[in-house]
Amino acid sequence: MSDRLYIFDTTLRDGEQVPGCQLNTVEKIQVAKQLELLGVDVIEAGFPISSPGDFNSVVEISKAVTWPTICALTRAVEKDIDVAAESLKYAKHKRIHTGIGTSDSHIKYKFNSNREDILERAVRAVAYAKKYVDDVEFYAEDAGRTDNEYLARVVEAVIKAGATVVNIPDTTGYCLPNEYGEKIKYLKEHVDNIDKAIISTHCHNDLGMATANTLEGVLNGARQVEVTINGIGERAGNTSLEEIAMILKCHKNIGIDTNINTRKIYPISRMVSSLMNMPVQPNKAIVGRNAFAHSSGIHQDGVLKNVQTYEIINPKDIGLDNNEIVLTARSGRAALRYRLEVNGVDIKDEETLDKIYKQFLVLADKKKEITDDDVLMLAGADRTANH
Ligand code: KIV
Ligand code: ZN
Repeated sequence: MSDRLYIFDTTLRDGEQVPGCQLNTVEKIQVAKQLELLGVDVIEAGFPISSPGDFNSVVEISKAVTWPTICALTRAVEKDIDVAAESLKYAKHKRIHTGIGTSDSHIKYKFNSNREDILERAVRAVAYAKKYVDDVEFYAEDAGRTDNEYLARVVEAVIKAGATVVNIPDTTGYCLPNEYGEKIKYLKEHVDNIDKAIISTHCHNDLGMATANTLEGVLNGARQVEVTINGIGERAGNTSLEEIAMILKCHKNIGIDTNINTRKIYPISRMVSSLMNMPVQPNKAIVGRNAFAHSSGIHQDGVLKNVQTYEIINPKDIGLDNNEIVLTARSGRAALRYRLEVNGVDIKDEETLDKIYKQFLVLADKKKEITDDDVLMLAGADRTANH
């Protein structure tokens, strides 16, 4: 039996904090409905105290979406929690996500306070949110740089106050994967009643380790991951949903499943990228333009013989029709013949193919990529030359 991992999507909250990526309420509803089809368990719909627009979006998403839990973010402040509870009025399943910074630098510079005071504020916020909803998630901001012993005390106290989920954010993307994994393990081993709550990961990508850290968290006992479509989010972004979903699909031996319908990954990636005006880097894992494009001759030859030679993911599994054989100056005869066939030109003899291939190389040295039109032109030119 596989263990179940809950997918908490924060594209519409942490993702939407990115400058220039703001969406209006109608657009957010579009994304939320796609997230529901994708199969996420929780949609973090916004930070309702931050603006009337954000408040309204949480209200409207709550009305529009049925299955996922709708979550609203707050600081550990009563007014924030009141407003969040109001915004969730229409949600069929609702969660308040409240929390406070627990690292020494947050305690000193953000709050000009001390550890005991922060611990009390954390407990008060959870107890206050519990008056409105059963499902309360607590985040220990900058947990990645928080001393483990103190973090364990905070986590134990908020679980006692009723937290159902405890979020351990690596807010600054600082942790190494083994450190982050050990932090989760430490909490599992040192916090009384830790099994009464779900441990959640929330990793940022400042050093390019968000996915690795999230995976280590899961391998050490976290059962919720906080992720975004295309990995968008503050600064270098958050862990990307598609990477975690496909890692667990490709590595079944890990024994952990999600509810994600992976065939919906590519369509939602395109939708988020275009609505947020945020291009996906071409070599982005899973959803980048080149993720299934084979361009070197050796790879193309292998893929055309058997896709498993260079492909670990079937493009159909993420909702793409096919892989792509890109023709460049590094391509070989097999790729050229394949593209000719795709374009309805069946080259039977090697001699003709050789002639076209020579012309193709001359053109490919001048152009970055050879298009279908170029291929047809080359084939046509060769036929004419034969007459
Ligand atoms: O990165 C972070 O710590 C956050 C919290 C507000 C959950 O986004
Ligand atoms: Zn974050």
